[in-house]
Amino acid sequence: MSSPKLRLDVVTIFPEYLDPLRHALLGKAIEQGILAVGVHDLRDWAAGNHKSVDAPPLGGGPGMVMKPEVWGPALDDIAQGRAGAELDSAEAHRNDRLRHDDVAQVAPRPYEAQDEDRDKPLLLVPTPAGTPFTQRDAQAWSREEHIVFACGRYEGIDQRVFEDAEKKYRVREVSIGDYVLIGGEVAVLVIAEAVTRLIPGVLGNTESHEEDSFSDGLLEGPSYTKPRVWRGLEAPAVLTSGDHKKVEAWRREQSLKRTRAVRPDLLERAALSDDDRFMLDAREVETRVDVGDKRVVAKQVRRALKKAGYRADRIERDGATLTVRGRTALALDEATRVVANAVGAYEGGDTLGNFARLESPE
Ligand code: ADE
Repeated sequence: MSSPKLRLDVVTIFPEYLDPLRHALLGKAIEQGILAVGVHDLRDWAAGNHKSVDAPPLGGGPGMVMKPEVWGPALDDIAQGRAGAELDSAEAHRNDRLRHDDVAQVAPRPYEAQDEDRDKPLLLVPTPAGTPFTQRDAQAWSREEHIVFACGRYEGIDQRVFEDAEKKYRVREVSIGDYVLIGGEVAVLVIAEAVTRLIPGVLGNTESHEEDSFSDGLLEGPSYTKPRVWRGLEAPAVLTSGDHKKVEAWRREQSLKRTRAVRPDLLERAALSDDDRFMLDAREVETRVDVGDKRVVAKQVRRALKKAGYRADRIERDGATLTVRGRTALALDEATRVVANAVGAYEGGDTLGNFARLESPE
């Protein structure tokens, strides 16, 4: 088997917590040799009968802080590939973990460093005090070769551990959200899954993660499958229209609208096209302009209006009055001006917004 694309090592005092890494997609990636996972019990590096890993905080206060004398050697060994406990199968593997001193002779795994930055493994330290973990990090880290996770419990790990670890690692303290967990283990599962699913071969369909929520800075819209009608609820008709362009446009609109409703902060940062702005801001309008006896060609007017950001559904003439109904994101007076320009008539007019609602008040 060729060497895996990514090796993950996790140091924790609760190794069983990391069992889910062996299941489903990650277990499959391990079996396929794409991923290698080592889970290490921090207590293997603890001294004395009690194998104590923590001590009261200097300066006093509640809780316990994890000791540097335990973490230091653990991270040294793992950086050098001296700690075993390979998870190379998706099967349960409970009591077969070798102690670090049993495997001290194991040859280091050769890492093919690709550039200056990469010759050190990445050490990720989950902590609510870290920088927020994002999809962008997941994408970048899916290209790493070796990621080590240091799971803290209690009040955290003595900070000097990370200062010292900079000699052997690129160290990043990361948070998975603005809430406090008991320890870093669950955060490791979250980060490991987000990262490994982006490695080619781990997800069958390479396109599926390009459309993920966050990949383009927006949330994904809703999804539907068969049957078309379920418990009296119909799936949106456009999805069974067979018109791919319409389906794409509908999906984009849903994605934009969900993002605006749920995460307006993301929308502010997203790169939006004119079409996107139209989808977000357009409302139904009706414009009336006085065209006198001027000849009006509806097709030309429609084209000119589209260019100006006003999509006309209906264009009707009654004597000197031309009525246009459609959708636009333009301000009402701007919409009137655009219609007047499109017909070459400047004698005045007016636009009403949201006419559909005005006509059928509920
Ligand atoms: N450990 C405890 N809470 C955490 C969080 N929100 N993110 C990452 N690690 C943590």
